[in-house]
Amino acid sequence: MSMIERVKEKARADRKTIVFPEGIEERTIQAAAELVKEKLVDPVLLGKPEEIRGEAKRLGVDLTGIRIEDPADSDRFRTYADSLYELRKAKGVTPEKAEELTLDPMYYGIMMVKMGDADGLVSGAVHTTGDMLRPALQIIRTKPGMKIVSSSFLMDCPDKSLGEDGLLVYADCVVMPSPTEEELAYIAVAAADTARTLCGIEEPRVAMLSFSTKGSAKHESVSKMQRAVEIAHKIAPDLLLDGEMQFDAALVPEIGASKAKGSPVAGRANVLIFPDLQAGNIGYKITQRIGGAECFAVLQGLQKPCNDLSRGCSVEDIVNTAAMTAVQAQS
Ligand SMILES: CC(C)(COP(=O)(O)OP(=O)(O)OC[C@H]1O[C@@H](n2cnc3c(N)ncnc32)[C@H](O)[C@@H]1OP(=O)(O)O)[C@@H](O)C(=O)NCCC(=O)NCCS
Repeated sequence: MSMIERVKEKARADRKTIVFPEGIEERTIQAAAELVKEKLVDPVLLGKPEEIRGEAKRLGVDLTGIRIEDPADSDRFRTYADSLYELRKAKGVTPEKAEELTLDPMYYGIMMVKMGDADGLVSGAVHTTGDMLRPALQIIRTKPGMKIVSSSFLMDCPDKSLGEDGLLVYADCVVMPSPTEEELAYIAVAAADTARTLCGIEEPRVAMLSFSTKGSAKHESVSKMQRAVEIAHKIAPDLLLDGEMQFDAALVPEIGASKAKGSPVAGRANVLIFPDLQAGNIGYKITQRIGGAECFAVLQGLQKPCNDLSRGCSVEDIVNTAAMTAVQAQS
């Protein structure tokens, strides 16, 4: 069974409510119907009911089992606007601004998750990553003990000798453009958690990547990865984590054994931490396009799960992301 099939089975076993702020969007409506059909999550579409129904009719989609909620006509509006004001008044948000924001389906959806009226949120078919991330960061905030929000890409590779039966977790490929060494350490700890929760990897083995292995090259960027390793060991002393190391030393047993002798991770890593967003984003696309891996993106470190789609996403991508969000909400 593939990783995503296992995720779907878990989602089905304990159904969660997932809100979609882009409720009027064509692929989102189709995905909501598919989620109901496959009994994966209970979807809530945000928007004007008559517009959503009109669009569903045009698409030939049956909306049975899908809840539709209009922020402007909701009995939760007042509570959300007041709470949003309380949460953000120190940052200059006035009661009027809070009302204006609550009318925005993105903020309304985030407030539903914050207030426990939904278990998670999925958006991004229309909005940019930043459009969703900013309110999520401002309102939902990070989990206790986690300093930052970042992302993992779950890479399901055709070569099953890699990582954990072909599964590799890459981080961070979406959020933090230039992480500090402390932020890299938190990204590593969060990615190991994602490996456990979503990939069912019982023993995450985390490699901190570089162009150097165990001091083979000297450069400030190498020293930064070495310091990140030290910090990660302090944050999560029981986690199998090592570095700095090159990509091949992390993945290929013979190279790991010769370049990083005695490392508990080298040659058998299943979680790979890239030094910055440029490397991570390029790395996952190479693995996907040249390596033929299927890839699935999730945000990690938020108190409650919110996930971003690519604007070029398919209906299937939305269904998969909703199932992953539900599984994150279960834990
Ligand atoms: C994540 C991102 C949207 C944050 O944007 P930003 O301009 O730094 O946002 P702000 O500085 O206004 O921060 C908003 C709030 O989130 C917090 N925050 C920012 N980044 C955070 C992070 N990674 N984790 C936790 N909190 C964070 C800030 O502290 C701030 O909180 P406050 O308003 O309570 O003080 C930005 O880093 C970004 O655009 N990243 C790249 C995303 C991207 O384009 N990826 C493309 C790859 S597909």
